[in-house]
Amino acid sequence: MTCAPVGMHPEGGAMFDVEELVATCQAAIDETDPVLAVRDVLERAVADPDAVAAALPPERGELVPLHVSERLTVLKLVWTPGMVLGPHDHRMWAAIGVYSGGEDNRFYRRAGATLVDSGTRSLRPRDVCLLGDDAVHAVTNPTGECAGAIHVYGGNFFATARSEWRGVPPTEQPFDVDRLLASFAAANEELAGER
Ligand SMILES: [Fe+2]
Repeated sequence: MTCAPVGMHPEGGAMFDVEELVATCQAAIDETDPVLAVRDVLERAVADPDAVAAALPPERGELVPLHVSERLTVLKLVWTPGMVLGPHDHRMWAAIGVYSGGEDNRFYRRAGATLVDSGTRSLRPRDVCLLGDDAVHAVTNPTGECAGAIHVYGGNFFATARSEWRGVPPTEQPFDVDRLLASFAAANEELAGER
């Protein structure tokens, strides 16, 4: 049997503890500047992407709540290769830390009843991105790997009404959670067919 120091993987890397992540996020939102405090927590976490991936394996498309309360939601979110989520908002601040694959973000700003482009940002393992509570973005995983990320939101992600934009030109409508869950199921079927 190989012995490893406490808190280390047998292979030698540091362990990542999901409960500890949630506890540090809960402490961070009580700080004077909660968003920057959460960013620092995420930056420390994804600085060792392999350790996060060992604890939260990015093997299939999924949205897994790690913590949900009125002030804080922490999710494991995995996008399969090529998966796309169209423009949507959150109505609360968000922080995203990527630990495998990649998330390419396209940002928008509201223009009357539609949206106009407002920049892009590609996130790769070790990257952390902050989104303001008025952010509108679309996400795709352009890599050949499942894209694993920790998403932290400053509120109850599941109890807050929000919008998505569909069609040409993009038209605002209530966010359809069932459609998102169906897209994960379809993406996983596609992924299973490729393996
Ligand atoms: Fe989002």
